[in-house]
Amino acid sequence: MSLPSSLLQALQQELEQDREALLRAVEELSARYRGEASPRGGRFASTRAEVLAYAAARLPATFAAVQGVFLEAAERLHRFSPGTLLDLGAGPATAAWAALAVWPDIQRVVLVEREPEMIRLGRRLAAAAPHAALREAAWMRLDVAAGVAGLEADLVVASYVLGELGPGTVAALVEQAWRAAREVLVLVEPGTPAGFRRIAAARERLIQLGAFVAAPCPHQEACPLGEGDWCHFARRVQRSRLHRQLKGGELAYEDEKYSYLVASKRPAAPARGRVIRRPRAHKGHVELDLCTPGGVERLVVSRKAGALYRWARKAQWGSAFENEKPRNGNSPSGA
Ligand SMILES: C[S@@+](CC[C@H](N)C(=O)[O-])C[C@H]1O[C@@H](n2cnc3c(N)ncnc32)[C@H](O)[C@@H]1O
Repeated sequence: MSLPSSLLQALQQELEQDREALLRAVEELSARYRGEASPRGGRFASTRAEVLAYAAARLPATFAAVQGVFLEAAERLHRFSPGTLLDLGAGPATAAWAALAVWPDIQRVVLVEREPEMIRLGRRLAAAAPHAALREAAWMRLDVAAGVAGLEADLVVASYVLGELGPGTVAALVEQAWRAAREVLVLVEPGTPAGFRRIAAARERLIQLGAFVAAPCPHQEACPLGEGDWCHFARRVQRSRLHRQLKGGELAYEDEKYSYLVASKRPAAPARGRVIRRPRAHKGHVELDLCTPGGVERLVVSRKAGALYRWARKAQWGSAFENEKPRNGNSPSGA
């Protein structure tokens, strides 16, 4: 995955500044996210240097994650074509860029963000967008913890934001976001145990409120993952030279891990199963851990399984499982 070229160019222009200062700001931001430095009243990035550091270090990865989620949502919600988008805790409008890459017919975008410097950066980046909906997006400087009543859109997204809210506020925002969604609510969080717990709690509440889970879960039942386990996925992000310098690594890519939920007001077409860990290819067989309506299952697919084996060889962590399960020889066993 790489960023849309217009976004990449606009971002590179923003980052043509004192590299040393940017490097320092990235290190400080990372320390705040790792919990090694105080986020000053829950504010992780508020100065100009900090929001640029966010854009440099995190935007490509959060874009990759949320775009992956939107692609899966499009797969599961066959006739869903949002005309309006509401992005809560929008940052530099990362999720809106990703949404327009998947649904270019979105006509109206509303971005809610608390930090004025983030809004300024988001506006400068959006000026380079090929989509009028993004160039002309409405930015609202609001604290989402105080509520988002009165806002509505076909698609509502909260990407990497629940974790920045106080624990008492998350559940209320999830409910308000659900009410604001005319059709679909998408939540994305870091792929950590804490990020997953927030997604799992939101899922439980949204199902009580009548939501249809479109992805990643293949069912509406209680999450079958046991204590200490967490459902998350990964997207590979290409690193630019600057990105490598800032992250202090030599690798040409990084894997962004995330947890997510796509909740729909209308029945969706969830997958029959979901590959919830990296598949393990062995000589002559592939092992897959699947979440299914019957719980978590280990599927062992041998070469003899023909088309299923060919699918299993290509399956990735996060892939939807749409096949018939084999009856003999390759039968799933409890994981
Ligand atoms: C980690 S960033 C995520 C930005 C963007 N959604 C993305 O996926 O890249 C979290 C954003 O939420 C904003 N935010 C945090 N708490 C907020 C609040 N209470 N009201 C509005 N925005 C908030 C932060 O200022 C920041 O821009």
